Amino acid sequence: MPSVYFETFGCQMNVADSDMLAQALFAKGYYSASTSSDADLIVVNTCSVRERAEIRAKARIKEYVNHRRKSHAAQEIWVVGCMAQRLGQSLRNEIPGIDRVIGSKDIVPFAQEMDGILLAGASDTGGEKFRGKLNAFVPIMRGCNNLCSYCIVPLVRGEEQSIPAISIENTVRSLVDTGLKEVTLLGQNVNSYHDGSTDLAGLLEKIQAIPGLARIRFTTSHPKDCTDALLQTIGRYPKLCKHIHLPVQSGSTRILEKMNRKYTRETYLQRIDAIRRILPNADITTDVMTGFPTESDEDFSDTVSLFKKVHFTAAFMFAYSKRDGTVAAALNDDVPVDIKKERLARLIDLQTAITKDHYSSMVRKDLEVLFLERQRGGEKLWTGQDNGCKRSVLSCNENIAGMILRVRALHSSGMTLITERI
Ligand code: SAH
Ligand code: SF4
Ligand code: F3S
Repeated sequence: MPSVYFETFGCQMNVADSDMLAQALFAKGYYSASTSSDADLIVVNTCSVRERAEIRAKARIKEYVNHRRKSHAAQEIWVVGCMAQRLGQSLRNEIPGIDRVIGSKDIVPFAQEMDGILLAGASDTGGEKFRGKLNAFVPIMRGCNNLCSYCIVPLVRGEEQSIPAISIENTVRSLVDTGLKEVTLLGQNVNSYHDGSTDLAGLLEKIQAIPGLARIRFTTSHPKDCTDALLQTIGRYPKLCKHIHLPVQSGSTRILEKMNRKYTRETYLQRIDAIRRILPNADITTDVMTGFPTESDEDFSDTVSLFKKVHFTAAFMFAYSKRDGTVAAALNDDVPVDIKKERLARLIDLQTAITKDHYSSMVRKDLEVLFLERQRGGEKLWTGQDNGCKRSVLSCNENIAGMILRVRALHSSGMTLITERI
């Protein structure tokens, strides 16, 4: 039986795509290989969001190609995902040895076609049986219509399309039947989800009604359409996690306008106030960029002051990276790389201290944690998340995978709470 090894770069959408492709391959008789060198097929799922993401993926693909040449293994190497979409078949000239290139827009039809072949042929072809997972990412929409000026995603993922609520419900139900406890609904801008009759709030109501499912998360929210009505829905149902990921990108209205984000510093802060009012204990996290073209010291201090004001639980922070084909790529990028990096480092320092603050403020408090897995290297140590997004560990001899336990935080190690059972 052939075996497959996946290496996935990029966002959760890519993780979901890799899972889907893996299911289709398992259905065709593949097993998962424990290491890349054992595998008959290596699938590298790539990301294009920043230049570094592509550099890393290319380096990895070259390693695989070189290793195969040296070991004379009969191995196939497929490159899939967003970089495969952006560069297409030209990747095969750039890195000779790639056997197949499948862009992000083609993964779904490709997997469906494989399933079709399976349906047309024998149904029991062996392969890895579906392993029940405790948590999964489920896309509720594909593509993005927002055209933020810096962003490659709409170019590689195409136009926004909502998946019908009924089909999402069916997917989640069947995952719950195999043991799923927590689902994260995915989209580049989940707030604009609409399948013609159901919006995101409506979808969340349907999903939370599925028996056996313990928790529901969703990401990413766009500040321009994260409404009070949605926040109230989240407040109404205990299964809906109190965590809002609300990328701000910049604290300067002037830069936000150049980014085509369609909100201002003030309207962003109004959204934060709404979250704090409607969901008082929610964790709020964000994405931010430093050194967007024309960003001045003053613009950057607007970002710093916004970070101090909002006090995010956590943030993903990046230096701006020019992406060919985007609107921002045509702007004169007058912010030197050193300045981009220096601002990024300052913001990371600030946010690290704020995150520590959040975690230490939880010490001696009680939380409900869904434990999902053993911590790497620690047999008895289990890790999980509270109802927001805070990471906790618990030392426990029993198998508590998939259980929600009430625990008390004993101390904080910066970005993790060490807890005891109560
Ligand atoms: N759809 C989500 C996530 C998009 S990509 C959203 O709208 O927020 C994830 C993050 O990567 C973005 O939020 C942004 O902070 C960052 N990013 C996107 N393009 C970038 C670029 N060209 N340079 C640096 N960071 C970028
Ligand atoms: Fe990119 Fe903006 Fe769409 Fe997010 S909302 S994927 S940042 S274009
Ligand atoms: Fe995700 Fe990267 Fe593609 S962030 S959508 S994998 S470009």
